[in-house]
Amino acid sequence: MLKLDLTKAAAVVSAAEVAAYESRIAAAQKALEEGTCAGNDFLGWLHLPSSITPEFIAEIKATAEVLRKECDAVVVAGIGGSYLGAKAVIEALQNSFQWLVNDGKNPTILFAGNNIGEDYLFELTQYLSDKRFGVINISKSGTTTETALAFRLLKKQCEQQRGKDVARKVIVAITDAKRGAARTCADKEGYKSFIIPDNVGGRFSVLTPVGLLPIAVAGFDIAQLVKGAQDMEQATAATVPFAENPAAQYAAARYALYTAGKKIEILVNYQPKLHYISEWWKQLFGESEGKDGKGIYPASVDFTTDLHSMGQWIQQGERTIFETVISVEQPEHELLFPSDEENLDGLNFLAGKRVDEVNKMAELGTQIAHVDGGVPNLRISISRLDAYHLGQLIYFFERACGLHCQLLDVNAFNQPGVEAYKKNMFALLGKPGYEKETEEIRKRLG
Ligand code: PA5
Repeated sequence: MLKLDLTKAAAVVSAAEVAAYESRIAAAQKALEEGTCAGNDFLGWLHLPSSITPEFIAEIKATAEVLRKECDAVVVAGIGGSYLGAKAVIEALQNSFQWLVNDGKNPTILFAGNNIGEDYLFELTQYLSDKRFGVINISKSGTTTETALAFRLLKKQCEQQRGKDVARKVIVAITDAKRGAARTCADKEGYKSFIIPDNVGGRFSVLTPVGLLPIAVAGFDIAQLVKGAQDMEQATAATVPFAENPAAQYAAARYALYTAGKKIEILVNYQPKLHYISEWWKQLFGESEGKDGKGIYPASVDFTTDLHSMGQWIQQGERTIFETVISVEQPEHELLFPSDEENLDGLNFLAGKRVDEVNKMAELGTQIAHVDGGVPNLRISISRLDAYHLGQLIYFFERACGLHCQLLDVNAFNQPGVEAYKKNMFALLGKPGYEKETEEIRKRLG
């Protein structure tokens, strides 16, 4: 089971200071469980893992099989919560050099609709021009510009390359049950489709088809991912005592640090495969907390890579930060450092050691240095980087985020700030219905 260590934050927040939040965490748990918190129509994630049935997993797997059989490449079109969860899990589980080592057993998974880069889309369509490809179109609203733009291009290309009948088989929609252009299109074209439950917001949706289908298409064990989340749902339940509940402890420690002036949390990993877990985490916490002039700013670094860039700032910059390290106890492979007769690089003192031992000593050395430098360190450890432990990690963060937002007294489940750029973009592009805004913005720009 995932472990949480708060002892290296004790110089700033002691165990007693964290424990002082016990009753507020209990109230937060109650508000989530009883649905009395702000945004209570978006609490579907809370008991989502335990509600997933083997039949549902089988249905996802059956659709994944069709795509795996019919496609060499599958493009997942989506942005934000409709993208980052799948990307994070796939990157964490797949070979670091998947592009180069793909043995044809699994389709190549590509992502689009998460940016509007013309070169990106051009190069993607060029790459796909000789591929048997399919598309998973993911959008809860069904109207997100980035995703809709990419999907229109990909749909046309897929139909042209593979014919309308095959395209119908290899395009899958994951969207709202009734609303939005993605639903209209899926129903009209007769695509296989999955529903994003009304009460699950994008950034909490990785354990719905939004994440599960792409992860299954990539060839990973979604039953184990769900099992990990189910176990964590139990381990973080309201009935679990505060002192034994990792999500409650993490939420309380973060809040204590925040009130002690630590406004920035840096999520640290020592495995390049975890890079996108950090991106997913940043969205989860950033979009949930950052409102009403409040919220911890979620940042991330990949160590030891970034020790050679951001390490300086972390060690000696402004003391408004704390770190949360995700540590993986056991790598999936073993690689011993070789001895060398000439020892020209002077590294024979490492001969016979596992590379991971060097990595772990870098981790420990960094923790000591950063704590000495005034950076409180929280540490989350998982025994392996596999589907089961990723499931635990995902639910752990979701629950902690839900709890922490109650402490902050913000609505964890809306994102009103995201709309501001969209209104201006539509006005600037002359979207019908935005005439007044177009006029206003033109005047402002002169
Ligand atoms: O967390 C969220 O709600 C957002 O990040 C959305 O997932 C993102 O904006 C994409 O929205 P949609 O799925 O409606 O296309």
